Amino acid sequence: MRPLKTALLALTLSLGGACAATLPAVTLTGFAQLPADTLADGPASGAWNGGLRGQTRFQGQPVQGFSGVQFTAGGEYLFLSDNGFGAKNNSADYLLRLYRLSVAPNTAAKDGTGQVGVRGFINLRDPDRRVPWQIVNEATPDRLLTGADFDPEGFVVAPDGTLWIGDEFGPYLLHFSADGRLLGAPTPTPNLHGRPTLRGQNPIVIAHRGSSGTRPEHTLDSYRVAIEGGADFIEPDLVVTKDGVLVARHEPVMVVLDKDGKVTEATTDVATRPEFEDRVRTKTLDGTSVTGYWVEDFTLAELKTLRAVERLPALRGRAFDGRFEVPTLAEIIALVRDTETRTGRKVGIYPETKHPTYMKAAGFDTGQLLIDTLTREKFTDPARVFIQSFETANLRELKTRIMPAAGVTLPLVQLVSGHTEAPYDWTASGDTRRYDALTTPEGLRDLATYASGVGPTKRWIITDRGDTTDFVTRAHAAGLLVHPWTLRSEPTYLLPTYAGNPEEEMRQLLRAGVDGFFTDFPATGARVAAQMAAPEVRSPQHPAFTQGTSSADATLGASGGFEGLALSADGTTLYGLLEKTVTGDLPGQLRLNALNLATRQWSLAGRYALDAGSDAIGDLATVNDTQYLVLERDSKVHTDARNKRVYLIDLKRLNADGTFQKTLIADLMNIADPQGLAPDTRGGTLTFPYVTIENVTLLNPTTLLIANDNNYPATGGRGPGVKDDTQFLWLRLGEPPNLGGR
Ligand code: G3P
Ligand code: CA
Repeated sequence: MRPLKTALLALTLSLGGACAATLPAVTLTGFAQLPADTLADGPASGAWNGGLRGQTRFQGQPVQGFSGVQFTAGGEYLFLSDNGFGAKNNSADYLLRLYRLSVAPNTAAKDGTGQVGVRGFINLRDPDRRVPWQIVNEATPDRLLTGADFDPEGFVVAPDGTLWIGDEFGPYLLHFSADGRLLGAPTPTPNLHGRPTLRGQNPIVIAHRGSSGTRPEHTLDSYRVAIEGGADFIEPDLVVTKDGVLVARHEPVMVVLDKDGKVTEATTDVATRPEFEDRVRTKTLDGTSVTGYWVEDFTLAELKTLRAVERLPALRGRAFDGRFEVPTLAEIIALVRDTETRTGRKVGIYPETKHPTYMKAAGFDTGQLLIDTLTREKFTDPARVFIQSFETANLRELKTRIMPAAGVTLPLVQLVSGHTEAPYDWTASGDTRRYDALTTPEGLRDLATYASGVGPTKRWIITDRGDTTDFVTRAHAAGLLVHPWTLRSEPTYLLPTYAGNPEEEMRQLLRAGVDGFFTDFPATGARVAAQMAAPEVRSPQHPAFTQGTSSADATLGASGGFEGLALSADGTTLYGLLEKTVTGDLPGQLRLNALNLATRQWSLAGRYALDAGSDAIGDLATVNDTQYLVLERDSKVHTDARNKRVYLIDLKRLNADGTFQKTLIADLMNIADPQGLAPDTRGGTLTFPYVTIENVTLLNPTTLLIANDNNYPATGGRGPGVKDDTQFLWLRLGEPPNLGGR
């Protein structure tokens, strides 16, 4: 049962730019057909519907539809049966099998429609109890596997004769002996996202001013909700009270008044307190005159009598106004400690020194106060603190003087605002440079002499047109972490390209390689980050979900698993092409995973980009050392069908975006049939308009075998109400081996 490989190894196809419009039609040189209602021996089946058992519909086991094919040395074809009746909950009485078929095509119209014989089958089974969860036939001696246990979609025969099968319920890889006995536990699909952060670490979610999208910012409740939502770090912006205590406010001014004394922005209710009406002051903050109530004019005791209010009430409401105090940094540390005591979770703190130049003029050294507080509170673990600032001098001072004097080393992050703005310490000292001076290669290198990371506004990474820049790559090249800000879920803050879905913005940043991000909605951020960093890719049918975990954690659509499975020509590596896009990857891009059969190590071999208008791939087949065939399809049938194609890819030839270059070698909607071999040929042209076409193999350097998966007993490929037979096509390629025409 070895695949024929000699012919394949001799073939090298040249990649070029052929497209559907210019490709000469492939030619049908043989045709065969297996009627839809072909049953094999076995128990009656088809009783399950929607998870309920009823009357059996079939007095045996339907032979089809087929989801994978290999040609064997014995001259037979091995076809893998799909999971049965299309879903987990209706296929518990469908036995998973490999069918041995003799397929003799007609090669001339006078020969009829070709001969297909079912010679036998291999039952896939688990008598040695390798599957660690309960299967349908749990207590039987043979433990025959069913379509409610796995959904097999592709297979190969390894050099040692054993069988590897790709499933899409896990998705799992399954290893069977040549006679169908499961040899080991199902192998889960690793999450090979290929989006390295600076050191390959998981990205962090920084709760911007706490969970400020759902609670008044910079309150203990905002931080508590953020922690409960899964934030890795909580962010206090720090200003100073009259008596020198660090408290969390976004600005030293906690209520801003216009020239008429009307409140234009407020984070506390101080303007409603008659006892403080004489505290209104006009001051110059970073060069701008501002009138209002200032934290540094209140003692901590006075400040504690105030209550927080929502800064953006028109957007976020006032449901929580008046409930929460202004917290001190020490109280925030206590909250984090309490979390650790209760849950064991080590949440970090990401303090920002607000307006250090202004504060210094007011008599406070914020950096020194910060290190004093962290030291006093014994919160100096460098894995749990990042210190950030929009100014530069205070960070350099922390690095060179304040932290060494205190005997602590904490990572610093240089915040970088827009091109037209400037660090105020530069402006105050007469330096006319702006933030973009920090983002040049030299600027980033200099920044890396005192900071561990850079915190850019997100527009440095994603332009306002939605394009990803090279900022992360350049910052990583300088050895810097990248933590952009600020992600907000309300539609007004989202680019049109996200269609109102804030998770898409997070995913685009994570794809760009950021090491974390600031968000007002940390629960959303934590969910997205966890999905993208999950160790495994899981479909909604993964057994963990059916055993209780929410399938909302699935990162692959249903029926999106290892549809394509191929063995490298040298027999060392198994290639599994996922049928659908993993959550977080670019839409339309499919991962090609590689498993080294000797070491059992996985790697990401690359990404396959579907054509516009295609929905999935249907199979993967080996050509030679580096080249593979991919069946690609849309989800349409009959006269609506458009994309039913076979592409050639070369693992070593990539497009600029890193996806495989593709060369169209067969358009299955345009097959020349000059002899009229197929009954459905019209005017000398055959189309193959089935929703799923899941079998392709290269029989010799010029001939493909293609077969559909009829999703038994589905109808529609050849017209409404017409059952899909399984049709086998022998196709002679147009102009091999130089299809690119160069
Ligand atoms: O510190 C990162 C981010 O918070 C910067 O913006 O103005 O919200 O402090 P801001
Ligand atoms: Ca901040």
